[in-house]
Formats: sequence, C-alpha cells, structure tokens
Amino acid sequence: MSMHHNLLQLLSNGRFHSGEELGRELGVSRAAVWKSIKLLQKMGMTIFAIRGRGYSLEHSVELLESHKICSEYMTNKDRNLEQLLVLESVPSTNSYLMERIDNDWVKPRAVVAEYQSEGRGRRGRNWCSPFAASIYLSLFYSFDRGVADLGGISLAIGLAVRKAILSLMPCELSVKWPNDLMWKGKKLGGVLVELSGDPLSECKMVVGVGINYRMPNGTNIDQPWIDLSSIVGDNLPSRNELTGALIESILDACSVLDNSGFEQFIEEWSLADAVVNQKVSLQLGNKRIDGIARGIDSLGSIRIESDGVVRSYASGEVSLRVTE
Ligand code: BTN
Repeated sequence: MSMHHNLLQLLSNGRFHSGEELGRELGVSRAAVWKSIKLLQKMGMTIFAIRGRGYSLEHSVELLESHKICSEYMTNKDRNLEQLLVLESVPSTNSYLMERIDNDWVKPRAVVAEYQSEGRGRRGRNWCSPFAASIYLSLFYSFDRGVADLGGISLAIGLAVRKAILSLMPCELSVKWPNDLMWKGKKLGGVLVELSGDPLSECKMVVGVGINYRMPNGTNIDQPWIDLSSIVGDNLPSRNELTGALIESILDACSVLDNSGFEQFIEEWSLADAVVNQKVSLQLGNKRIDGIARGIDSLGSIRIESDGVVRSYASGEVSLRVTE
C-alpha cells in the first residue's frame, strides 16, 4: 500500500486529524504528511487543512483494490482475465494499454487508475480525471473478427456500460450516439474505443470508460455534465463493485459481438437512445447536417432524416437542436 493510500484510509472517517497524529500512525514526519496532502490536492482531491485542527476529507473515499474488484467480479463467472492492474496515477489508462499491446496478448486485460494526468476523451479532447472522483477503466480485448466486421462496437460498449450502472443503481440512463452515457441531457460518462489490427482477420481493441462518480465541488467541464452522486445522493454503489460490474458487462458485450455481431444490440439501443425522433445536428468535419434522428442502422451508423430522406452516418458529433 502506498503512502497516499494509507493516509486516505486514516482520513476516511471524515474527522479532522492533526499532521502529528497522521505522521505517528504512518511512521513518517509531519513534513512528509504535508507533502502527500499537497500532492493529493494537486491531483484534484478536496482535503481541508485548518490550522490547529489538522486535515480532513470533503467526503470519505473508497479506494480501488484489485482483490475487491475481482471478488465482486468473479462471483458471476470466471472470465479468464489475464491481468487486472490498479494504478494510483497514470497519464491515461488507455495509453497505458495501447503502448504495451503485444501480438502475444490474447486474453482480456484491465487497468484502472485513481488519477489520470492526461486523461483522453474522444476527438482529441481532454478527460477531466481528479483523484478517486470517477472510474477510469481501460480494457484490452482481442476479437476473432476483423476490424471491418466490427461495426457498432462502440455502441455495444456504451450499452454494456449503461447495463452495468443500472444493475447497481436504477435510474434514467440513456446513450447518445455513438456512446455517451446521458442522464437527463447531461453527460455522465463516455467511452473511447481504440482499435489496432488487420481489417480482415483478428482485431485488438483497447476500450476506455470514464464515469463521473463524485466529482469535487467546482469541477469545470465545458459541457453539461452530471456525476453518480448527484443522481443517487448517498446511495452510491461501491467504486470497487461498479468497476467489477463494468468489466464483466463489457466483456460480455465483447463476446456477444465477436460471436454474433452487432445485430443483437439494435433493439436494446432503440430502448436507450437519447435522441431518437428529436431534432439534431450532426457535425461532420466542417459540414453540418440538420434533421430528425431516426435511430441506427444494422452497422451502428446513426440515421438522420433531412428533406424527407433518411441517410446513415458512420461518424460525427451529434447534438440536440433546441432552436426552431
Ligand atoms: C469521451 O470523450 O466521451 C470518452 C471519454 C473516455 C475517458 C476514459 S477514462 C479511462 C480511459 N483513459 C483515457 O485516457 N480515456 C478513457
């Protein structure tokens, strides 16, 4: 266990603890405690420091632990996960796996982190990743099918993420094409799929999932967003359990996709679609298509009706049109 981990364990009862007391418990100097607190604050944790009283956390925190994730996760079925790595800090869990992918990798692997210094979103965006405030998970999966045959992969994974969250906390979650997790028009999480491999034979994938869990007060994200704690208050599921459920659900979706293709997911999508039959704009490079969303086609492309004609689009950024 790291110094940060042990320190947060001591602080997790929500009370104030003096630097001296923490140092004594941890067997380190007060200066070392202060240094660790500073670093955690820099990584986005809200820790109150009050002269004469000491340090206290804004919220108690449950840190990720691989044995807990596995015991939850393994209860249903043994998925043959080659590796489940819990990192304290990493630039990006997706980059971590992408940089290490090897031809010999066959079985699934998972990496989770408490903090990402360079978390990545879709379309080159940054993904806000404060310490222990979200789930940052990446999974490696090797498909027998080729890239060309895996249309709809990112939609299927968005649905798997939705399913995992709903299994632990019933709420109104929808998916916005291609794979944003939405709650009442606000973004709760996102999925970043990165593929490498032969278009015709085997395809290796790294999928990254970010779910806002309990973000610090004052978090600044440049679009409407929400976190799980604002949806369910104190009835938050355990972070370890949620991580286990996500891994299991995503691996399930991958094996269905590999064996039967995307067809299996179309009906589920239609029940969870956040924009179906609504006025939308699709930004495609510097071109904008305005129309009515008409669900998805058998390859997972979005269907948009404009001027009475329905066309499918495989890429682009969808937003709801509020005007007119
Ligand atoms: C999106 O833009 O909606 C996709 C966000 C994906 C974020 C996750 S967090 C874990 C993994 N590591 C990253 O750097 N990004 C993904």
